[in-house]
Amino acid sequence: MKYFHSILLLSLLIFSGCKIKTGKDTDSSEQNIQELISKMTLAEKIGQMYQAFDGFYPNDEALKNAVREGKVGSFLNVQGADRINELQRIALEESKHGIPLLFGRDVIHGYRTIFPIPLGMASSWDTSLVEKAMRISSVEAASMGINWTFAPMIDITWDPRWGRIAESCGEDPFLTSQFATAMVKGIQGNLDDPTAVAACAKHFVGYGMAEAGRDYNTTYIPEPLLRNVHLKPFKAAKAAGALTFMSAFNDLNGVPTSGNEFTLKTILRDEWNFKGMVVSDWASVEEMITHGYAANRKDAAEKAVSAGVDMEMSTTSFIDYLKILVEEGKISEKLINNRVANILRVKMSLGLFTKPFLDGKMAKDTILAKSHLNLSRELARNSMVLLKNNNQTLPLSKDIRSLAVIGSFADAPHDQMGTWVFDGNSDDSETPRTTINKILGKRMNFALGVEYSRDKSTVGFNKAIDAARKSEAIVYFVGEESILSGESNSRGIIDLPGVQKELLIELKKTGKRIILVVMAGRPLAIADELELADAVLYAWHPGTMAGPAVADLIFGDYSPTAKLPVTFVKGAGQIPFYYYRKNTGRPAANSDFTYIDDIPRNSKQLSLGFKSMHIDYGIEPLLPFGYGLSYTKFQYTNLQLSDTILNFNESIIVSANISNVGNFETDEIVQMYVRDKVGSITRPIKELKGFNKIHVKPGDNMKVDFEIKPADLEFFNGKDYVIEPGNFEVWIGPNSAEGLKAKFVLK
Ligand code: NOJ
Repeated sequence: MKYFHSILLLSLLIFSGCKIKTGKDTDSSEQNIQELISKMTLAEKIGQMYQAFDGFYPNDEALKNAVREGKVGSFLNVQGADRINELQRIALEESKHGIPLLFGRDVIHGYRTIFPIPLGMASSWDTSLVEKAMRISSVEAASMGINWTFAPMIDITWDPRWGRIAESCGEDPFLTSQFATAMVKGIQGNLDDPTAVAACAKHFVGYGMAEAGRDYNTTYIPEPLLRNVHLKPFKAAKAAGALTFMSAFNDLNGVPTSGNEFTLKTILRDEWNFKGMVVSDWASVEEMITHGYAANRKDAAEKAVSAGVDMEMSTTSFIDYLKILVEEGKISEKLINNRVANILRVKMSLGLFTKPFLDGKMAKDTILAKSHLNLSRELARNSMVLLKNNNQTLPLSKDIRSLAVIGSFADAPHDQMGTWVFDGNSDDSETPRTTINKILGKRMNFALGVEYSRDKSTVGFNKAIDAARKSEAIVYFVGEESILSGESNSRGIIDLPGVQKELLIELKKTGKRIILVVMAGRPLAIADELELADAVLYAWHPGTMAGPAVADLIFGDYSPTAKLPVTFVKGAGQIPFYYYRKNTGRPAANSDFTYIDDIPRNSKQLSLGFKSMHIDYGIEPLLPFGYGLSYTKFQYTNLQLSDTILNFNESIIVSANISNVGNFETDEIVQMYVRDKVGSITRPIKELKGFNKIHVKPGDNMKVDFEIKPADLEFFNGKDYVIEPGNFEVWIGPNSAEGLKAKFVLK
């Protein structure tokens, strides 16, 4: 065996009494689990339900003793292959029942090889690339002993103020569900493989609806919205085989999600038949006291365990109180047995009872492997969205006489990696400045302009303007640092920070072509910047290979293909703005719009038209969901339906012809949307129901088919899941605001 001493381990297990047999077939595994539980004391069972963070025990000996005595089931953030190996050895060989440990860590978008932030990954609309990226993340993490990661994060959000939008796949339940499936598959891989890592679908559920985008805030989500939007990606993750789920921090309709019987029991266990394990979020069990839902730690433990939490992360209400709660008859030992069975099932599914110890060589062979860096570059390139390209400003020729490269984000090795990079190392990053320098050498004129995003000083402006004057064109890198998005890093103002816009205004005065590259963890409100620049490439936080990926696109080795997984708003006042909003009783058209400055000073008008709109923002967002430009031009023609009647138990095919009428060979992300015209509850004005990334040569065209089945039209109406007959509209288009439209009837 290349990596592991499996024979040695197997013999160790045999000599140590082979504490558990593992079986491939579910029945024998279940039997083994029940047998094992029947031998465990209550204290040992409760031990399994605890996840300790590194540093929880006063010293290493105390930590090892806790493992020996079966007082802990999992560790969070214990690092180092050797250390993990040793603890796993103690668990398997020196603890009474030989139950292995789960080692959890947040490997969100890469371990050492960092991929784009998840919102960037989602912009690729490329589930196969993302699955590969997550597999690589797991392979690297597994080489360090990690066997459980707290990903994918599949919360839906409509609020770019929320810092964790960076970790999400954006606003759409269908797109997020596709990525949930791909990410779970990628993370877990083949469970028989030594590099399998358990995925954790989080945060269950509704966390992305935090009021005002303030992290950890209250959420109110009516059941139709919960089921039609927020639960969908989780259901997909479960179907893809996610071994674990994480309850969230938020209280949902008055009940914290870490003690919420409706979501954890009724939906997850009873309706979906989830057999894996639920871990709380960090301290979210005890935070139910702060929420005002639990009276004290004992009450919190009772509520969390009764609702459905199997393992408590970091805080100790389970290990401190569950025994007493059982003795008092408030929690039955049978319930504890069920909770422990869920945990053991995950350990068994991962093969941890027989998984051989690590060989130090594995990390050397995998961490930052060339193929990993190549995929990071490819995914980064596929995640950058071209928002504007006037007069074919891009691509630039590599023969350009001189190019000004300006802005702190041109050379931000740490910040280009984005949020949640515990193990990413900025020394591994290649920045755009480095790559462009490799390509252009002395023809690149670099100037910072501003030191960092929130810099209010204009002292660097002159150097930047000089560099711009000396150059044929300007690439100006702007954005927000990684610390401005991610957990707890919510912003109320989502404009470009500091004086970055002011510098853009000055650069514009040079008359040179300006390419703006934005690195950010959220869709920023960049209406003015979009207007000022000739071209805008929205790069998100692209990861380790930001430099080569940006260069691939701006110098035209590849065309941008990515499309927005979120609506871009003009300003925070438009939030929430998402494409599948309802029509309302008074929808406004552009022609209804009176701009606030055009209202006569002494107007005595009662109203400006009694329509649903803002008189300052209008009725459109800055950019619609699904939007993204290319170096070529695609034409959509010939929308056809195989039938205009869709019968129950049948399906129809909707198709269109997509022609590449420009002169760049590249991909196009073709999108299919549906509208249910009348429902027993009001229905969204559009819903994404399919997408396809196709590759078309200039002058060629391709017919793209989408199947629509009645089941695709199902929704929850407050009482039931229903598929309602009636009229539907269908679009095939390049984004959520454009496309060819047809109609069909479901009968
Ligand atoms: C809190 C975060 O909400 C969660 O996403 C993360 O996995 C845990 N901390 C563990 O670090």
